[in-house]
Amino acid sequence: MLSDSACKQIEDLISKYPQKRSALIPSLHLVQKELGYISQDTMREVAEIFEISPNEVHEVTSFYTMFHRNPVGKYVLQVCTNISCQLCNAEDIMAHLTKKLGIKPGETSADGKYTLLEVECLGSCGTSPVVQINDDYHEELTPEKLDKILDSLE
Ligand code: FES
Repeated sequence: MLSDSACKQIEDLISKYPQKRSALIPSLHLVQKELGYISQDTMREVAEIFEISPNEVHEVTSFYTMFHRNPVGKYVLQVCTNISCQLCNAEDIMAHLTKKLGIKPGETSADGKYTLLEVECLGSCGTSPVVQINDDYHEELTPEKLDKILDSLE
Protein backbone atom coordinates (compact mmCIF):
# COMPACT_ATOMS: atom_id res chain seq x y z
CA MET A 1 0.00 0.00 0.00
CA LEU A 2 1.26 3.45 -0.88
CA SER A 3 2.38 5.61 2.01
CA ASP A 4 0.80 8.98 2.69
CA SER A 5 4.11 10.52 1.73
CA ALA A 6 4.11 8.77 -1.66
CA CYS A 7 0.52 9.83 -2.32
CA LYS A 8 1.44 13.42 -1.46
CA GLN A 9 4.47 13.30 -3.76
CA ILE A 10 2.33 11.92 -6.58
CA GLU A 11 -0.17 14.75 -6.10
CA ASP A 12 2.77 17.21 -6.25
CA LEU A 13 3.94 15.61 -9.49
CA ILE A 14 0.45 15.76 -10.98
CA SER A 15 0.24 19.48 -10.17
CA LYS A 16 3.29 20.12 -12.37
CA TYR A 17 1.68 18.91 -15.58
CA PRO A 18 -1.20 20.33 -17.60
CA GLN A 19 -2.57 16.81 -17.99
CA LYS A 20 -2.77 14.48 -15.01
CA ARG A 21 -1.72 11.45 -17.02
CA SER A 22 1.63 13.06 -17.92
CA ALA A 23 2.74 12.45 -14.33
CA LEU A 24 2.14 8.71 -14.56
CA ILE A 25 5.66 7.57 -15.44
CA PRO A 26 7.46 9.77 -12.88
CA SER A 27 4.89 8.62 -10.32
CA LEU A 28 5.57 4.98 -11.12
CA HIS A 29 9.29 5.61 -10.62
CA LEU A 30 8.47 7.09 -7.24
CA VAL A 31 6.26 4.13 -6.33
CA GLN A 32 8.91 1.63 -7.34
CA LYS A 33 11.53 3.48 -5.32
CA GLU A 34 9.30 3.22 -2.27
CA LEU A 35 8.06 -0.36 -2.66
CA GLY A 36 10.77 -2.00 -4.76
CA TYR A 37 8.27 -3.14 -7.39
CA ILE A 38 4.80 -2.37 -8.65
CA SER A 39 2.31 -5.05 -7.69
CA GLN A 40 -1.19 -5.53 -9.11
CA ASP A 41 -2.63 -3.96 -5.95
CA THR A 42 -0.34 -0.97 -6.32
CA MET A 43 -1.35 -0.62 -9.98
CA ARG A 44 -4.97 -0.42 -8.81
CA GLU A 45 -4.07 2.28 -6.28
CA VAL A 46 -2.18 4.28 -8.89
CA ALA A 47 -5.03 3.86 -11.39
CA GLU A 48 -7.44 5.25 -8.82
CA ILE A 49 -5.27 8.32 -8.27
CA PHE A 50 -4.96 8.92 -12.02
CA GLU A 51 -8.59 8.08 -12.72
CA ILE A 52 -7.64 5.53 -15.35
CA SER A 53 -8.09 1.77 -15.51
CA PRO A 54 -5.64 -0.59 -13.78
CA ASN A 55 -5.06 -2.10 -17.21
CA GLU A 56 -3.69 1.21 -18.48
CA VAL A 57 -1.20 1.28 -15.61
CA HIS A 58 -0.32 -2.33 -16.37
CA GLU A 59 0.31 -1.43 -20.02
CA VAL A 60 2.87 1.19 -18.98
CA THR A 61 4.61 -1.00 -16.42
CA SER A 62 4.82 -3.91 -18.83
CA PHE A 63 6.09 -1.80 -21.74
CA TYR A 64 9.06 -0.27 -19.94
CA THR A 65 11.65 -2.71 -18.63
CA MET A 66 12.68 -0.33 -15.86
CA PHE A 67 9.46 -1.11 -14.05
CA HIS A 68 9.35 -4.32 -12.04
CA ARG A 69 6.03 -6.09 -11.57
CA ASN A 70 7.44 -8.70 -9.22
CA PRO A 71 9.80 -8.48 -6.25
CA VAL A 72 13.42 -8.08 -7.33
CA GLY A 73 16.79 -8.52 -5.67
CA LYS A 74 18.88 -5.81 -4.07
CA TYR A 75 20.79 -5.53 -7.34
CA VAL A 76 18.95 -5.71 -10.63
CA LEU A 77 21.27 -6.60 -13.50
CA GLN A 78 19.80 -5.73 -16.88
CA VAL A 79 21.85 -7.24 -19.67
CA CYS A 80 21.33 -5.76 -23.11
CA THR A 81 21.34 -8.47 -25.76
CA ASN A 82 20.22 -6.29 -28.65
CA ILE A 83 22.16 -6.20 -31.91
CA SER A 84 25.13 -3.90 -31.04
CA CYS A 85 25.72 -5.63 -27.74
CA GLN A 86 25.17 -9.01 -29.36
CA LEU A 87 27.93 -8.22 -31.86
CA CYS A 88 30.20 -7.34 -28.93
CA ASN A 89 29.76 -10.62 -27.04
CA ALA A 90 26.72 -9.87 -24.89
CA GLU A 91 25.99 -13.59 -24.98
CA ASP A 92 29.29 -14.24 -23.20
CA ILE A 93 28.35 -11.64 -20.58
CA MET A 94 24.97 -13.27 -20.04
CA ALA A 95 26.48 -16.76 -19.91
CA HIS A 96 29.05 -15.57 -17.39
CA LEU A 97 26.38 -14.05 -15.17
CA THR A 98 24.05 -17.05 -15.30
CA LYS A 99 26.92 -19.32 -14.31
CA LYS A 100 28.35 -17.06 -11.62
CA LEU A 101 25.03 -16.14 -10.03
CA GLY A 102 23.36 -19.51 -10.61
CA ILE A 103 20.22 -17.92 -12.02
CA LYS A 104 18.65 -17.55 -15.46
CA PRO A 105 17.25 -14.34 -16.98
CA GLY A 106 14.06 -13.42 -15.15
CA GLU A 107 15.16 -15.07 -11.90
CA THR A 108 16.31 -13.76 -8.52
CA SER A 109 19.05 -15.43 -6.50
CA ALA A 110 17.93 -17.40 -3.44
CA ASP A 111 19.58 -14.87 -1.11
CA GLY A 112 17.55 -12.07 -2.70
CA LYS A 113 20.67 -10.25 -3.74
CA TYR A 114 20.56 -10.39 -7.53
CA THR A 115 17.89 -10.30 -10.20
CA LEU A 116 19.05 -11.01 -13.73
CA LEU A 117 17.12 -9.58 -16.68
CA GLU A 118 17.62 -9.65 -20.43
CA VAL A 119 16.62 -6.32 -21.95
CA GLU A 120 16.42 -4.56 -25.27
CA CYS A 121 18.74 -1.70 -26.26
CA LEU A 122 19.80 0.45 -23.33
CA GLY A 123 20.69 3.30 -25.67
CA SER A 124 24.43 2.98 -25.20
CA CYS A 125 25.28 0.98 -28.31
CA GLY A 126 28.60 2.80 -28.85
CA THR A 127 29.95 1.33 -25.62
CA SER A 128 28.65 -2.23 -26.01
CA PRO A 129 28.29 -4.60 -24.33
CA VAL A 130 26.31 -2.88 -21.60
CA VAL A 131 24.81 -4.01 -18.30
CA GLN A 132 22.70 -1.72 -16.15
CA ILE A 133 22.96 -2.46 -12.44
CA ASN A 134 20.22 -0.60 -10.60
CA ASP A 135 20.62 2.97 -11.85
CA ASP A 136 24.20 2.68 -13.14
CA TYR A 137 25.45 1.73 -16.58
CA HIS A 138 28.53 -0.45 -16.94
CA GLU A 139 29.94 -0.33 -20.43
CA GLU A 140 32.48 -2.04 -22.68
CA LEU A 141 32.22 -5.00 -20.37
CA THR A 142 34.20 -8.19 -20.28
CA PRO A 143 33.60 -11.07 -17.87
CA GLU A 144 36.69 -9.92 -15.93
CA LYS A 145 35.42 -6.34 -15.60
CA LEU A 146 32.06 -7.69 -14.54
CA ASP A 147 33.65 -9.81 -11.80
CA LYS A 148 35.33 -6.72 -10.36
CA ILE A 149 32.03 -4.83 -10.42
CA LEU A 150 30.22 -7.70 -8.68
CA ASP A 151 32.98 -7.92 -6.07
CA SER A 152 32.49 -4.22 -5.36
CA LEU A 153 28.83 -4.88 -4.61
CA GLU A 154 29.62 -7.40 -1.87
S1 FES B 1 22.27 -2.65 -28.39
FE1 FES B 1 22.97 -2.73 -26.34
S2 FES B 1 22.95 -0.67 -25.72
FE2 FES B 1 22.13 -0.60 -27.72
